[in-house]
Amino acid sequence: MSATIIDGKKIASNFYNKLKEKISKLECEEIPVLAVISVGDDPASKVYVKTKQKRAQEIGIGCEIIELADTIGENALLEIIDELNDNHHINGIIVQLPLPKHIDQLKILSRINPSKDVDGFTPYNTGLLSYNDKKGFISATPKGILHLLQSTGIELSGKHAAVIGRSNIVGKPMAMLLLNQDCSVTITHSKSQNIEDIVKTADIIVVACGQAKMIKSSWVKDGATIIDVGINRTEDGLCGDVDFDDVKEKASFITPVPGGVGPMTVAMLLDNTYTAFCRQQNDGECLCHHKNCKCH
Ligand code: GUN
Repeated sequence: MSATIIDGKKIASNFYNKLKEKISKLECEEIPVLAVISVGDDPASKVYVKTKQKRAQEIGIGCEIIELADTIGENALLEIIDELNDNHHINGIIVQLPLPKHIDQLKILSRINPSKDVDGFTPYNTGLLSYNDKKGFISATPKGILHLLQSTGIELSGKHAAVIGRSNIVGKPMAMLLLNQDCSVTITHSKSQNIEDIVKTADIIVVACGQAKMIKSSWVKDGATIIDVGINRTEDGLCGDVDFDDVKEKASFITPVPGGVGPMTVAMLLDNTYTAFCRQQNDGECLCHHKNCKCH
Protein backbone atom coordinates (compact mmCIF):
# COMPACT_ATOMS: atom_id res chain seq x y z
CA MET A 1 0.00 0.00 0.00
CA SER A 2 1.20 3.48 -0.80
CA ALA A 3 2.05 5.93 2.00
CA THR A 4 -0.14 8.85 3.03
CA ILE A 5 1.55 12.05 1.89
CA ILE A 6 2.01 14.64 4.63
CA ASP A 7 0.89 17.89 2.99
CA GLY A 8 3.22 20.47 4.55
CA LYS A 9 1.92 23.22 2.30
CA LYS A 10 -1.65 22.76 3.52
CA ILE A 11 -0.66 22.36 7.17
CA ALA A 12 1.50 25.51 6.96
CA SER A 13 -1.31 27.41 5.24
CA ASN A 14 -3.77 26.50 8.04
CA PHE A 15 -1.16 27.55 10.56
CA TYR A 16 -0.67 30.93 8.82
CA ASN A 17 -4.42 31.56 8.80
CA LYS A 18 -4.64 30.97 12.54
CA LEU A 19 -1.57 33.09 13.25
CA LYS A 20 -2.88 35.90 11.03
CA GLU A 21 -6.14 35.88 12.95
CA LYS A 22 -4.37 36.00 16.31
CA ILE A 23 -2.25 38.94 15.14
CA SER A 24 -5.29 40.79 13.79
CA LYS A 25 -6.88 40.50 17.24
CA LEU A 26 -3.94 41.96 19.13
CA GLU A 27 -5.15 44.83 21.23
CA CYS A 28 -2.19 47.17 20.98
CA GLU A 29 -0.76 49.85 18.71
CA GLU A 30 2.38 47.90 17.84
CA ILE A 31 2.80 44.90 15.56
CA PRO A 32 5.35 42.10 15.96
CA VAL A 33 8.57 42.91 14.08
CA LEU A 34 11.29 40.52 12.95
CA ALA A 35 14.80 41.75 12.01
CA VAL A 36 16.72 39.59 9.55
CA ILE A 37 20.46 40.12 9.19
CA SER A 38 21.69 38.96 5.80
CA VAL A 39 25.44 38.98 5.16
CA GLY A 40 26.84 38.57 1.64
CA ASP A 41 25.28 37.57 -1.67
CA ASP A 42 24.54 33.85 -1.36
CA PRO A 43 21.66 33.44 -3.87
CA ALA A 44 19.84 30.71 -1.90
CA SER A 45 20.02 32.80 1.30
CA LYS A 46 18.61 35.82 -0.57
CA VAL A 47 15.62 33.76 -1.69
CA TYR A 48 15.00 32.41 1.83
CA VAL A 49 15.19 35.91 3.32
CA LYS A 50 12.74 37.33 0.76
CA THR A 51 10.33 34.45 1.46
CA LYS A 52 10.50 35.18 5.20
CA GLN A 53 9.72 38.85 4.57
CA LYS A 54 6.84 38.10 2.18
CA ARG A 55 5.19 35.59 4.51
CA ALA A 56 5.65 37.89 7.51
CA GLN A 57 3.99 40.81 5.75
CA GLU A 58 1.10 38.61 4.56
CA ILE A 59 0.11 37.84 8.14
CA GLY A 60 0.76 41.24 9.72
CA ILE A 61 4.30 40.84 11.03
CA GLY A 62 6.81 43.56 10.16
CA CYS A 63 10.11 42.35 8.72
CA GLU A 64 13.22 44.50 8.47
CA ILE A 65 16.04 43.09 6.38
CA ILE A 66 19.51 44.36 7.20
CA GLU A 67 21.73 43.61 4.21
CA LEU A 68 25.45 43.69 4.86
CA ALA A 69 28.52 43.18 2.66
CA ASP A 70 30.43 39.93 3.19
CA THR A 71 33.48 42.04 4.08
CA ILE A 72 31.85 43.16 7.34
CA GLY A 73 33.96 42.46 10.44
CA GLU A 74 32.81 40.63 13.56
CA ASN A 75 32.81 43.72 15.75
CA ALA A 76 30.63 45.71 13.36
CA LEU A 77 28.19 42.80 13.20
CA LEU A 78 28.14 42.50 16.99
CA GLU A 79 27.34 46.22 17.26
CA ILE A 80 24.38 45.83 14.92
CA ILE A 81 23.06 42.97 17.05
CA ASP A 82 23.51 45.10 20.20
CA GLU A 83 21.42 47.85 18.61
CA LEU A 84 18.68 45.43 17.64
CA ASN A 85 18.73 43.89 21.14
CA ASP A 86 18.17 47.38 22.60
CA ASN A 87 15.52 48.41 20.05
CA HIS A 88 12.09 47.94 21.65
CA HIS A 89 10.37 47.95 18.26
CA ILE A 90 12.23 44.77 17.27
CA ASN A 91 10.83 41.58 18.82
CA GLY A 92 12.78 38.89 16.99
CA ILE A 93 16.29 38.82 15.52
CA ILE A 94 17.74 36.24 13.16
CA VAL A 95 21.06 36.03 11.37
CA GLN A 96 20.67 34.20 8.08
CA LEU A 97 23.19 31.35 7.82
CA PRO A 98 25.71 30.52 6.52
CA LEU A 99 27.93 33.44 7.48
CA PRO A 100 31.18 34.20 5.61
CA LYS A 101 34.10 32.04 6.75
CA HIS A 102 35.98 34.85 8.54
CA ILE A 103 33.10 35.34 10.97
CA ASP A 104 32.77 33.20 14.11
CA GLN A 105 29.17 32.01 13.89
CA LEU A 106 28.86 30.99 17.54
CA LYS A 107 30.22 34.35 18.74
CA ILE A 108 27.67 36.21 16.59
CA LEU A 109 24.65 34.05 17.44
CA SER A 110 25.51 34.11 21.16
CA ARG A 111 25.17 37.89 21.15
CA ILE A 112 21.44 37.78 20.31
CA ASN A 113 19.29 38.37 23.36
CA PRO A 114 17.74 34.92 24.07
CA SER A 115 14.32 36.60 24.45
CA LYS A 116 14.58 37.79 20.82
CA ASP A 117 16.30 34.65 19.48
CA VAL A 118 13.37 33.41 17.40
CA ASP A 119 15.62 31.00 15.46
CA GLY A 120 16.46 29.28 18.75
CA PHE A 121 20.15 29.19 17.80
CA THR A 122 21.69 30.81 20.89
CA PRO A 123 23.41 28.48 23.35
CA TYR A 124 20.79 29.61 25.88
CA ASN A 125 17.84 28.41 23.84
CA THR A 126 19.53 25.20 22.73
CA GLY A 127 20.22 24.65 26.44
CA LEU A 128 16.55 25.19 27.32
CA LEU A 129 15.63 22.64 24.64
CA SER A 130 17.92 20.08 26.22
CA TYR A 131 16.22 20.79 29.57
CA ASN A 132 12.85 20.31 27.81
CA ASP A 133 11.89 23.73 29.14
CA LYS A 134 8.97 25.07 27.10
CA LYS A 135 9.99 28.70 27.60
CA GLY A 136 12.86 28.38 25.11
CA PHE A 137 12.55 29.14 21.39
CA ILE A 138 12.87 26.00 19.29
CA SER A 139 14.49 26.34 15.88
CA ALA A 140 12.02 26.49 13.07
CA THR A 141 12.73 23.39 10.98
CA PRO A 142 12.68 20.83 13.85
CA LYS A 143 9.64 22.54 15.36
CA GLY A 144 7.85 22.36 11.99
CA ILE A 145 8.77 18.68 11.64
CA LEU A 146 7.29 17.92 15.06
CA HIS A 147 4.04 19.56 13.92
CA LEU A 148 4.06 17.41 10.78
CA LEU A 149 4.64 14.25 12.82
CA GLN A 150 1.85 15.20 15.25
CA SER A 151 -0.48 15.87 12.30
CA THR A 152 -0.30 12.17 11.38
CA GLY A 153 -1.69 11.12 14.77
CA ILE A 154 1.04 8.50 15.24
CA GLU A 155 2.20 7.84 18.79
CA LEU A 156 5.75 9.15 19.23
CA SER A 157 6.43 7.89 22.74
CA GLY A 158 8.63 4.80 22.79
CA LYS A 159 9.28 4.82 19.03
CA HIS A 160 12.73 4.48 17.54
CA ALA A 161 13.55 7.66 15.60
CA ALA A 162 16.61 7.80 13.36
CA VAL A 163 17.89 11.28 12.54
CA ILE A 164 20.28 11.34 9.62
CA GLY A 165 22.50 14.43 9.83
CA ARG A 166 23.94 16.26 12.84
CA SER A 167 23.77 19.94 11.88
CA ASN A 168 23.13 22.58 14.53
CA ILE A 169 20.14 23.81 12.52
CA VAL A 170 18.30 20.52 12.01
CA GLY A 171 19.87 17.23 13.14
CA LYS A 172 20.89 18.04 16.71
CA PRO A 173 17.79 20.04 17.77
CA MET A 174 15.56 17.49 15.99
CA ALA A 175 17.10 14.64 17.96
CA MET A 176 16.60 16.54 21.22
CA LEU A 177 13.00 17.39 20.36
CA LEU A 178 12.22 13.74 19.60
CA LEU A 179 13.94 12.66 22.80
CA ASN A 180 11.71 15.13 24.66
CA GLN A 181 8.76 13.32 23.04
CA ASP A 182 10.02 10.09 24.61
CA CYS A 183 11.38 8.60 21.38
CA SER A 184 14.50 6.44 21.45
CA VAL A 185 16.74 8.46 19.17
CA THR A 186 19.73 7.48 17.07
CA ILE A 187 21.69 10.17 15.24
CA THR A 188 23.66 9.04 12.23
CA HIS A 189 26.04 11.16 10.16
CA SER A 190 28.63 11.03 7.42
CA LYS A 191 31.10 9.07 9.60
CA SER A 192 28.56 6.50 10.83
CA GLN A 193 29.53 3.01 9.72
CA ASN A 194 26.21 1.25 9.58
CA ILE A 195 23.62 3.87 8.68
CA GLU A 196 21.52 1.46 6.65
CA ASP A 197 21.26 -1.09 9.49
CA ILE A 198 20.23 1.63 11.95
CA VAL A 199 17.69 3.20 9.62
CA LYS A 200 16.13 -0.21 8.90
CA THR A 201 15.11 -0.51 12.55
CA ALA A 202 13.55 2.97 12.82
CA ASP A 203 9.83 3.75 13.10
CA ILE A 204 10.47 7.40 12.30
CA ILE A 205 13.19 8.59 9.93
CA VAL A 206 14.18 12.26 9.64
CA VAL A 207 16.67 12.79 6.85
CA ALA A 208 18.74 15.97 6.62
CA CYS A 209 22.01 14.94 5.02
CA GLY A 210 22.00 16.76 1.66
CA GLN A 211 22.45 13.59 -0.45
CA ALA A 212 19.91 13.39 -3.26
CA LYS A 213 17.66 10.28 -3.03
CA MET A 214 20.01 8.54 -0.57
CA ILE A 215 17.24 6.69 1.29
CA LYS A 216 15.88 3.74 -0.73
CA SER A 217 12.97 1.46 0.13
CA SER A 218 15.41 -1.34 1.05
CA TRP A 219 16.56 0.91 3.95
CA VAL A 220 13.07 1.38 5.32
CA LYS A 221 11.02 -0.74 7.70
CA ASP A 222 7.45 -1.48 6.61
CA GLY A 223 5.10 1.25 7.83
CA ALA A 224 7.81 3.73 8.87
CA THR A 225 7.14 7.49 8.85
CA ILE A 226 9.58 9.43 6.70
CA ILE A 227 10.42 13.13 6.97
CA ASP A 228 12.62 14.47 4.19
CA VAL A 229 14.42 17.75 4.93
CA GLY A 230 16.63 17.63 1.83
CA ILE A 231 16.44 20.16 -0.97
CA ASN A 232 18.76 19.05 -3.77
CA ARG A 233 18.92 20.66 -7.19
CA THR A 234 19.73 17.89 -9.70
CA GLU A 235 19.61 17.61 -13.50
CA ASP A 236 16.12 16.12 -13.08
CA GLY A 237 14.99 19.09 -10.96
CA LEU A 238 14.38 19.49 -7.24
CA CYS A 239 14.46 16.37 -5.06
CA GLY A 240 14.89 15.40 -1.42
CA ASP A 241 17.30 13.07 0.38
CA VAL A 242 14.72 10.28 0.06
CA ASP A 243 13.96 8.35 -3.13
CA PHE A 244 10.31 9.33 -2.83
CA ASP A 245 8.73 7.12 -5.54
CA ASP A 246 10.58 4.06 -4.27
CA VAL A 247 10.05 4.64 -0.52
CA LYS A 248 6.40 5.72 -0.66
CA GLU A 249 5.38 2.12 -1.41
CA LYS A 250 6.81 0.98 1.91
CA ALA A 251 6.25 3.86 4.33
CA SER A 252 3.01 4.69 6.11
CA PHE A 253 3.54 8.49 6.02
CA ILE A 254 5.99 10.51 3.94
CA THR A 255 6.72 14.19 3.21
CA PRO A 256 7.17 15.29 -0.41
CA VAL A 257 9.88 17.66 -1.69
CA PRO A 258 8.84 20.36 -2.37
CA GLY A 259 5.73 20.89 -0.26
CA GLY A 260 6.68 18.98 2.88
CA VAL A 261 9.04 20.37 5.50
CA GLY A 262 9.95 23.59 3.61
CA PRO A 263 6.67 25.49 4.01
CA MET A 264 6.56 24.74 7.76
CA THR A 265 9.92 26.35 8.53
CA VAL A 266 8.93 29.96 7.89
CA ALA A 267 5.55 29.42 9.60
CA MET A 268 7.35 28.31 12.79
CA LEU A 269 9.79 31.23 12.65
CA LEU A 270 6.85 33.64 12.50
CA ASP A 271 5.08 31.78 15.29
CA ASN A 272 8.18 32.27 17.45
CA THR A 273 8.22 35.97 16.50
CA TYR A 274 4.59 36.33 17.58
CA THR A 275 5.39 34.59 20.89
CA ALA A 276 8.41 36.86 21.47
CA PHE A 277 6.24 39.92 20.80
CA CYS A 278 3.51 38.81 23.22
CA ARG A 279 6.02 38.11 25.98
CA GLN A 280 7.74 41.45 25.48
CA GLN A 281 4.41 43.32 25.40
CA ASN A 282 3.35 41.67 28.62
CA ASP A 283 6.70 42.55 30.11
CA GLY A 284 7.06 38.84 30.80
CA GLU A 285 9.99 37.23 32.49
CA CYS A 286 13.05 37.45 30.26
CA LEU A 287 14.75 34.25 29.26
CA CYS A 288 18.27 35.09 30.27
CA HIS A 289 17.76 35.85 34.01
CA HIS A 290 20.97 37.90 33.97
CA LYS A 291 21.29 40.51 36.67
CA ASN A 292 20.69 44.04 35.30
CA CYS A 293 19.27 42.51 32.13
CA LYS A 294 17.82 45.08 29.72
CA CYS A 295 15.67 42.62 27.79
CA HIS A 296 12.55 44.71 28.26
N1 GUN B 1 20.04 28.86 6.93
C1 GUN B 1 19.44 27.69 6.62
N2 GUN B 1 18.36 27.47 7.43
C2 GUN B 1 18.31 28.53 8.28
C3 GUN B 1 17.43 28.87 9.34
O1 GUN B 1 16.49 28.16 9.70
N3 GUN B 1 17.71 30.06 9.97
C4 GUN B 1 18.75 30.85 9.60
N4 GUN B 1 18.95 31.97 10.28
N5 GUN B 1 19.59 30.55 8.62
C5 GUN B 1 19.36 29.40 7.96
